This record gives sequence, structure tokens and C-alpha cells, in this order.
Amino acid sequence: MSNKSHFNSAHMTMNQLKKKGIVHSSAVAGINVPYTVHGIFIRDAVDFLKALPDSSVQLILIDPPYNLDLDIWDSFHNYIDWAKGWLDEIYRVLSDSGNCVIFGGFQYQDLKKGDLLEILHYTRHKTPLRFVNLVIWYYKNGMSAHRFFANRHEEAVWLSKTNKYYFDLDSVRVPFDDATKELYKKDKRLNPESVNKGKNPTNVWEIGRLNGNSKERVGHPTQKPVELIRRFVRALSFEGSIVLDFFAGSGTTGRVCIEERRHSLLVDSDSKLCDYLGKHIRQIESSNLSLPKYRLIKDAQIDTVLKEITLVNRQSS
Ligand SMILES: C[S@@+](CC[C@H](N)C(=O)[O-])C[C@H]1O[C@@H](n2cnc3c(N)ncnc32)[C@H](O)[C@@H]1O
Repeated sequence: MSNKSHFNSAHMTMNQLKKKGIVHSSAVAGINVPYTVHGIFIRDAVDFLKALPDSSVQLILIDPPYNLDLDIWDSFHNYIDWAKGWLDEIYRVLSDSGNCVIFGGFQYQDLKKGDLLEILHYTRHKTPLRFVNLVIWYYKNGMSAHRFFANRHEEAVWLSKTNKYYFDLDSVRVPFDDATKELYKKDKRLNPESVNKGKNPTNVWEIGRLNGNSKERVGHPTQKPVELIRRFVRALSFEGSIVLDFFAGSGTTGRVCIEERRHSLLVDSDSKLCDYLGKHIRQIESSNLSLPKYRLIKDAQIDTVLKEITLVNRQSS
């Protein structure tokens, strides 16, 4: 079945959602908030989710442990038994226009369970979440192999709560190069406005992996590239909305939310999250980019953070 929402611009989508009363009045695309709020919670993901009110989040973006023994947090006796604790809460906490992105990969030739296939199977059969897209994150740098084709991709599933999910394709279009643009502008069948907007990035994204000596590294062993997270944040949430990452790791999602003017709720069982996030912020400050105003709130009650977000959004222009 074709998915018509993919062809809508952000405004068309938001207007439709508003007309149907699905989007809260504060959640207007591009609201200009005076600053963004970022709650940092050093807690277990499931405990946090259970305390979060219904329909409170626009985007959940997570990169969970996968039973790969990468660290002490990455070993499980029964993976899906553990994962269902948080998978069962996602639908409830998402707003009606909400989206959820789960990073992962497949375990090959391994009897140990715990991969994106199992997560997808669970969400499809045991939750009302809708499967919108599978994004392939393709990179050129990786390990060599001799007994199989060398792996050069990871995956992320995009799930939504309803079929009225928010999607801002225009915010992530890829510009055509000048020669192609000129060529397309001469083609009478093509709308010049669409040519100027650029092309759909498709569901295969080429973004380099972080090498050990990458400037972006802040010390977390499984840190994701900023540009990968940015594309999801831009397309699936809007300024002034709330993004939740309950396996926040180094806080890459929080960093992107500060830059892109979204509020964020960052949860990790490891208190090193605070130091890592500090390093992310110093990276933005030392670049020439101007940093939008933000406020970090650590170790507060969830309600306190949500109230502050509501107050800030009321002051929006
Ligand atoms: C794969 S890493 C996320 C990395 C992150 N995407 C980044 O770019 O930095 C997974 C994180 O989940 C955290 N974690 C594992 N089990 C958890 C739990 N039960 N509750 C909260 N956090 C947990 C780990 O401490 C780890 O930092």
C-alpha cells in the first residue's frame, strides 16, 4: 500500500493534524521557543518510562543494547524478556503524531538472541505500533571479512503510533548538484520549485561511521554520528517538541536536540552521560556555529521538567 503522507510537506501534515485535533496547540511546526529544556535522568529505562505520562513525547529515538557483550550493560540471559519491558511502553507515551526510531542490526550465525529482527517481530505482533520504514545506514569504513561479504550497514526501524505521524521531508531533502539542477530546470515536466527543494534522501543513508580517532568522539564505546541522528530528529519531530532517548549513552540525541531546538529527555543507567554530554556541548561551542539557548536539568522529577517545557512553549512566538 502506498504511503501518501510521504509526499506531504511539513505544513500540510501539521495542518491536517491540527484540523483533526491530533496535534496539541503548542505543537505547531517551527514554533520559536526562547530556549529548549533537556532533562537528564540517571535511571533504568523501564522505571523511567513507567513514570512518564501518556502521549507526552513526539519522538523516541533509541540505540539499545543488543546482547553483544560490548560492555557490562550489554549481556542478557533472555533478551526479548528484558526488551518487552520498554517496548510495551512506547505506544502509550507517544503523542498521536509521534514516531519511534530503534537502531539495531542483525546477529549472524549466532545462537545468542537479541537483534532488530526480534524487536520488529515483537512490535509487529505484540504492540499496535505501525512499521513505516527501514532505514539502511551505509558506511564505507568497516572490518574486512574472508568467509562472508564484509558488513557495511546497520539498520534503524521507524515506527509510528498512528498513520497521522509527523514527517517533514523538506527538512532533510538532499540538494541536487548544480549541473543536475540546471538540467532538470530545463525539463518542462519538472516543477522548478521541487527541483530547488532537492531530492528525497531515500531509505539508504551514506554517513561515515565514527573511527576511533574521529573528532566527534566523546569517549562512549558505541557513540552514533551526529549527522545520522540529526536527519531523524529533523524529519520526525519539530521545534519545541519533545524527543526521548532512554538509552542515551553519550547524549548524541541531546546534543542534536540543542542544535535543532527540540526539548529532550535523556535517560541512561550510567552517570557518565553527564560528562559525555558536556563534551558534546563543548564541541558545538568550539565550532563556529552559534548555539541556540538551552537549559539542562539534572536529577529532577519528570513532572518538573515537563512543566518547564510547557511554560517555555507558552512563551513561544
Ligand atoms: C548503544 S548505547 C547508546 C549510545 C548512544 N546512541 C550514543 O550515540 O552515544 C546504549 C546505552 O544504554 C545504556 N543502558 C543499558 N541498559 C540500560 C537500562 N536498563 N536503562 C537505561 N540505560 C541503559 C548503556 O549504559 C549505554 O550507554
